[in-house]
Amino acid sequence: MGLDEVRADWTRLGSAEPLWAVCVDPAKRGGGWDDDEFLASGAAEIDAALGRLAELGLRPGRRRALDFGCGAGRLSNALAAHFARVVGVDIAPTMLDEARRLDRSGGRVDFRLNDRPDLAAFADDSFDLVYTDLVLQHLPPKLAEGYLREFVRVLRPGGAMVIGVPDRERATFKGLVFRFAPWPLIRLAQRRLLGYPAPMRMHPLPRARLAAVLAAGGARIADSQEYWGGDHWLHLRHYAWLPDGEGR
Ligand SMILES: C[S@@+](CC[C@H](N)C(=O)[O-])C[C@H]1O[C@@H](n2cnc3c(N)ncnc32)[C@H](O)[C@@H]1O
Repeated sequence: MGLDEVRADWTRLGSAEPLWAVCVDPAKRGGGWDDDEFLASGAAEIDAALGRLAELGLRPGRRRALDFGCGAGRLSNALAAHFARVVGVDIAPTMLDEARRLDRSGGRVDFRLNDRPDLAAFADDSFDLVYTDLVLQHLPPKLAEGYLREFVRVLRPGGAMVIGVPDRERATFKGLVFRFAPWPLIRLAQRRLLGYPAPMRMHPLPRARLAAVLAAGGARIADSQEYWGGDHWLHLRHYAWLPDGEGR
């Protein structure tokens, strides 16, 4: 699976039902998400994550944040309450259309298409915070790891990263199916039984692997917290930082 397939699948998901595809909840299928409620879920997440960074003694600058895989802008809008500028990048043009519709930042979020396996559009050391949630698991591990290296490259020394990604499947029926069943079978079930507009892959990223990739670029994980309890994956939110010249 390459980036073309990722782009095609997410473009279809974004054109069929973007808010449900971003926050998959069977109860919200068929237009169940209210815009305000959807954006409020982003604000709650960002407030909690920035609060946790502060508790850990990590206080990145507030000039520029990157929201990688911004989808419909749920988190980009929330980040704009804390950062002077936010860049939301996504691979699906249809998601970006929805993000622009929901933009309440007064023009402080720049929503951009990025369909490359890197972040070459952005200079080294150009963001104070890199945030990503519910994105890397949808990518084959090699691609996800390439983006992790790019997060470190574009982060300013002294900056912070928040990375939300499942660590592993839980031992539930669905978790075990995802772990052991062949992908073509899962894809068929998602399309035919569950009626997904396009398949959604799931690739957990174990903490040890993520830590190793970040460490190779000089970044360190300060904390990893479980979130989003009742699911079929163990979801972890990692709080990482890139020391500045004085080791902070
Ligand atoms: C489940 S949604 C999460 C959206 C957002 N992070 C949130 O939590 O509200 C996943 C998003 O990641 C995007 N995405 C997937 N692969 C990507 C890639 N390689 N580069 C940028 N965005 C990507 C999809 O198009 C989709 O909008």
